[in-house]
Amino acid sequence: MTHDTAKRQAAETAIRYVEEGMIVGVGTGSTVAHFIDALGAIKHRIAGAVSSSDQSSEQLRGLGIELFDLNAVGPLPLYVDGADECDGHKRLIKGGGAALTREKIVAAASKRFVCIIDASKRVDVLGRFPLPIEVIPMARSHVAREIVRRGGQPVWRDGVTTDNGNWIIDVHGWKITDPVALEAELNQIAGVVTVGLFAARGADVVVCGQDVID
Ligand code: A5P
Repeated sequence: MTHDTAKRQAAETAIRYVEEGMIVGVGTGSTVAHFIDALGAIKHRIAGAVSSSDQSSEQLRGLGIELFDLNAVGPLPLYVDGADECDGHKRLIKGGGAALTREKIVAAASKRFVCIIDASKRVDVLGRFPLPIEVIPMARSHVAREIVRRGGQPVWRDGVTTDNGNWIIDVHGWKITDPVALEAELNQIAGVVTVGLFAARGADVVVCGQDVID
């Protein structure tokens, strides 16, 4: 089975968490694109969506799904999003698509976070996928030095500007055995906007292909 087939299966399986009249929090990425398509098929049963990126907003709008401002409708009952890596405790690395900040906000403001992945995303220890960190542009070199001091290899994602007007540093070479502690520590560095570790608030449910890990 291809990765894309497994992503579509996960997305379609996640539809079972959508209830009548809900405003659904929607993440970003290729797996979520399948979820949005599936949401389009039941759009008359939901009130609408809160989106985590311009990319997802465009797809949602194209399908005629009403978009809401999180400030007007939060907290949300459900957030559905993909991930770049997922460990056995449902802790995640996200941000491969540079949408991590809004994703983290919508996840934080949602009661249940359902993460949809294919099996290639599952790891024992987070860190094989370079950890994305969104930074204020003027802090790029400062944050990079702080990462080097902690044994990581920072690589600026040159040419990428986030939906919030910031930059991304991808950190290579970390084996993240305590993601909750690392997330808290990196959050303290001046100029860091969002760390792509979703560990303090990980997923509540992981749907991997057709398998549901509750
Ligand atoms: C966006 O910034 C990321 O957090 C995505 O959630 C992640 O990259 C999704 O991966 P897929 O495109 O493989 O679903």
